[in-house]
Amino acid sequence: MSGLSTVKLNDGVQVPVLGYGTGTALYQKEAKDSVKMAYSEAKMHHIDCAEFYANEESVGLALKELGVKREDVFITTKCGSDDPRKSLEKSLKLLGVDQVDLYLIHTPLLFKDTGLGKAWQTMEELQKEGKTKSIGVSNYRISDLEETLKVAKVTPSANQIEVHPYVLDKAQSLIDFCQSKGIHIESYGPLSSIVRHPGGSVDPVVKKIAQELGATDGQVLLKWAHQITHGGIVVTTSSKKERLEEQIKAFTDIKDLSAEQVQAIAEAGKKEHHRVFMQHMDE
Ligand SMILES: NC(=O)c1ccc[n+]([C@@H]2O[C@H](COP(=O)([O-])OP(=O)(O)OC[C@H]3O[C@@H](n4cnc5c(N)ncnc54)[C@H](OP(=O)(O)O)[C@@H]3O)[C@@H](O)[C@H]2O)c1
Repeated sequence: MSGLSTVKLNDGVQVPVLGYGTGTALYQKEAKDSVKMAYSEAKMHHIDCAEFYANEESVGLALKELGVKREDVFITTKCGSDDPRKSLEKSLKLLGVDQVDLYLIHTPLLFKDTGLGKAWQTMEELQKEGKTKSIGVSNYRISDLEETLKVAKVTPSANQIEVHPYVLDKAQSLIDFCQSKGIHIESYGPLSSIVRHPGGSVDPVVKKIAQELGATDGQVLLKWAHQITHGGIVVTTSSKKERLEEQIKAFTDIKDLSAEQVQAIAEAGKKEHHRVFMQHMDE
């Protein structure tokens, strides 16, 4: 794998701290060329996929054409139906692998009718059968995790949620809850303050810290997401090789933000609220 550090999940699985996302910009699009570029040129060896993105086959093709050895790539994908078994078997076929590294339930809303306990028991079976190394969730609120933990024999290893300064007001208690249970946070949408809501209260604070650290604004935001989630995993994306390299450098070349810098961004973020995805997380 690339020179990136890894985060150790509660089941011992090691995840490269930065993941390359195939949703958002690549949603429902052929992802082959982008994944090839990200993997081989920018050395992004952790790929974040989902059944819902409808492009897993092109991710699989990219890895095949590159001749990537299975152990040299970390693959996450997510269940997008109310049948985790059927969904994972389909994803494995499309991705061209026998096992994924991390399998997530994409959203608890998939199981409104059937219940989160039953869904989680199926996830545990899939892990036991070796179809996935690690099992986790995405877009789970505290109440969803509590419902799951009531029946869980295996604690979810990760909760992939939207993390950027403009959702911290709502996300903080969830982050703290996850930490208390040993569930790692995977942050998505980390660049939202500059990409989707530029000109807000966070921008001048991030700019000042970027100057202090000799980093770019994007690098500061990626580091902030990692640090505010107590050393969590961060998922981002870019169509540009230079930006992907810059994103990796945030974790290899840039020193950590001080506690005061982390707090200054948090305080600036709390002045506004902008959720981009999954509005149920604000309920
Ligand atoms: N579990 C879920 O429900 C869920 C939801 C959303 C996302 N995700 C996952 O997380 C991944 C990343 O999410 P995201 O796209 O929201 O991440 P993000 O890091 O907030 O945004 C990435 C976007 O920002 C642009 N960008 C990168 N650096 C920039 C800079 N310095 N200045 C301005 N623009 C910049 C990129 O476009 P360029 O190509 O122009 O660089 C890219 O499209 C997704 O692909 C998906 O895999 C999961």
